[in-house]
Amino acid sequence: MTTNDSAQTTPKAPAKDPWDLPDVSGLVVGVLGGTGPQGKGLAYRFARAGQKVILGSRAAERARAAADELGLGIEGADNAECARRSDVVIVAVPWDGHGATLEALREDLAGKLVIDCVNPLGFDKKGAYALKPEEGSAAEQAAALLPDSRVTAAFHHLSAVLLADPEVEEIDTDVMVLGESRADTDLVQALAARVPGMRGVFAGRLRNAHQVESLVANLISTNRRYKAHAGLRVTDV
Ligand SMILES: NC(=O)c1ccc[n+]([C@@H]2O[C@H](COP(=O)([O-])OP(=O)(O)OC[C@H]3O[C@@H](n4cnc5c(N)ncnc54)[C@H](OP(=O)(O)O)[C@@H]3O)[C@@H](O)[C@H]2O)c1
Repeated sequence: MTTNDSAQTTPKAPAKDPWDLPDVSGLVVGVLGGTGPQGKGLAYRFARAGQKVILGSRAAERARAAADELGLGIEGADNAECARRSDVVIVAVPWDGHGATLEALREDLAGKLVIDCVNPLGFDKKGAYALKPEEGSAAEQAAALLPDSRVTAAFHHLSAVLLADPEVEEIDTDVMVLGESRADTDLVQALAARVPGMRGVFAGRLRNAHQVESLVANLISTNRRYKAHAGLRVTDV
């Protein structure tokens, strides 16, 4: 038997089913900048799905007021406490404050699964356009600033208006999930799947986050033309 023959007879481990996702129902979800429309909307949807949620803010009292408004057992805290008490931390601050916020929270975010949903965009009279962060993307800036965290990127293409509307039962959209480790992107996909109608789809490593963040400029143009809250579906997966 040649070496080649023996390689052919070695049984291969079966490929892992990409839809076999972990149970994330026990994880605490924190939202930095959780007093804004995106953070508050995500917090509402996850809490409505039964997840424990902590809203973060630069001012604890603002976070507590927003949490009280939402109900569903959501708590409010300053961003540092929100990060420390959560297993998964969504970054939902404006691009302007992104770097400084994460730099200040480096220790609080150590060991955490961080999900960046920040879209670096500019606006002028022609509409929205993608900015070009020095690190490549907001997500890559987060990864550079948080060497002790597990940084992923997701939830860029959601409409905060739909997230916040209690009459909307299902959020009809796919969520593109990016990251360096399959275990982490599987967790984020599983979290997305907690929201009825929503599905997390793996979309590559963080070096490809720029396109995903930038695509929001296109969706904003679509929304303006059609007076819509456009979402995305990835077909044939
Ligand atoms: N809105 C959407 O539909 C949508 C959809 C997908 C992704 N996103 C992304 O999600 C992020 C948040 O969007 P948003 O519309 O919710 O934004 P936002 O209302 O402008 O900001 C969210 C919160 O961030 C805090 N914040 C404001 N300036 C800050 C700064 N310089 N440093 C640190 N924190 C600051 C504020 O909370 P406190 O004052 O309480 O700290 C604010 O309530 C953005 O990066 C956006 O690209 C938004």
